Amino acid sequence: MSFSLDSVVPWGRSFDEYVAMFALEPRDLRRRILGCADGSAAFNAVANRAGGGVVSVDPLYEYGAVEIKQRIDAVFQSVLDETERNKDEFVWRHVQSVAELGELRKTAMDEFLADYEAGVKEYRYVAGELPSLPFMDQTYELALCSHFLFLYSEHYDLQFHIDSLKELCRVAEEVRVFPLTELGARPSRHLKQTIDACIQAGLNPRIVVVDYEFQKGANRMLRLSTT
Ligand SMILES: C[S@@+](CC[C@H](N)C(=O)[O-])C[C@H]1O[C@@H](n2cnc3c(N)ncnc32)[C@H](O)[C@@H]1O
Repeated sequence: MSFSLDSVVPWGRSFDEYVAMFALEPRDLRRRILGCADGSAAFNAVANRAGGGVVSVDPLYEYGAVEIKQRIDAVFQSVLDETERNKDEFVWRHVQSVAELGELRKTAMDEFLADYEAGVKEYRYVAGELPSLPFMDQTYELALCSHFLFLYSEHYDLQFHIDSLKELCRVAEEVRVFPLTELGARPSRHLKQTIDACIQAGLNPRIVVVDYEFQKGANRMLRLSTT
C-alpha cells in the first residue's frame, strides 16, 4: 500500500454521530456491519461493547496504537484551529463551540485507541483500502462509509468513486455513505455521475435526509442496495 501515516489526519467521530449520520435503527445495529474508512472513530469500539458485530477497514490500521496516537496528538490542535478559522462552514447546534468539538472528538478517539489492540487481534480492525477490499462477496449485511467518499472529491476522481461504491456493494448487501458534500461545504462534484453509474450497474441508489448536520448543507446520505 502507498498509504503513509503523515498523509492522514485522524479525526474520529462518536458512536452517536454514526447512528445519526446513517439513521441507524436498533435492528441495523444487530446486522453484520463493515465500517469502511472508520479511522479513529469510536463506532466499532462502542458497538462491539454493546454486542454488535462491526468490522472496520482502513489503511490506517497498518499502524500500531502508539504510532496512531502520536499522529492524533500531532494534528489535533491544528485541526481545531482550522475549524475555528472556518467556523462559518459548520452548524453549531448539537456541538456549540470548537472547544466542545475538541472534547467530543478526543473522547471518541480515546475510545478507539483503548479498543484498538484487542480489536486488531479479534479481526475487527483490518488494514485495507478502497477501491479494493480484502473481503469475500457479500460478507456484510451493511457497509457504512463516513467522511471519506465524496468529502475528498478534489483528491479522488469520479472513477475512484464509482469503483469504490461498486466494491462496497460487492462486499455488503446494503451501503450507506455520508456526507454527500465535499470539503468547503459544497455538494460533491462527482455525486450525480456516480449515481448515474450506479443505476447503470443495477444498483439502487436513494438519497435520504438524516437528522445530522454539522458541516453546513451536509445532511444527506446515499443508500445503495443490490436488491
Ligand atoms: C476523515 S477520516 C474519517 C474517519 C471516520 N470515518 C469518521 O467519520 O470519524 C477519513 C479516513 O479515510 C481513511 N482512508 C484514506 N484512504 C482510504 C482508502 N483508499 N480507503 C478507505 N479508507 C481510506 C483514512 O485513513 C481516514 O481514517
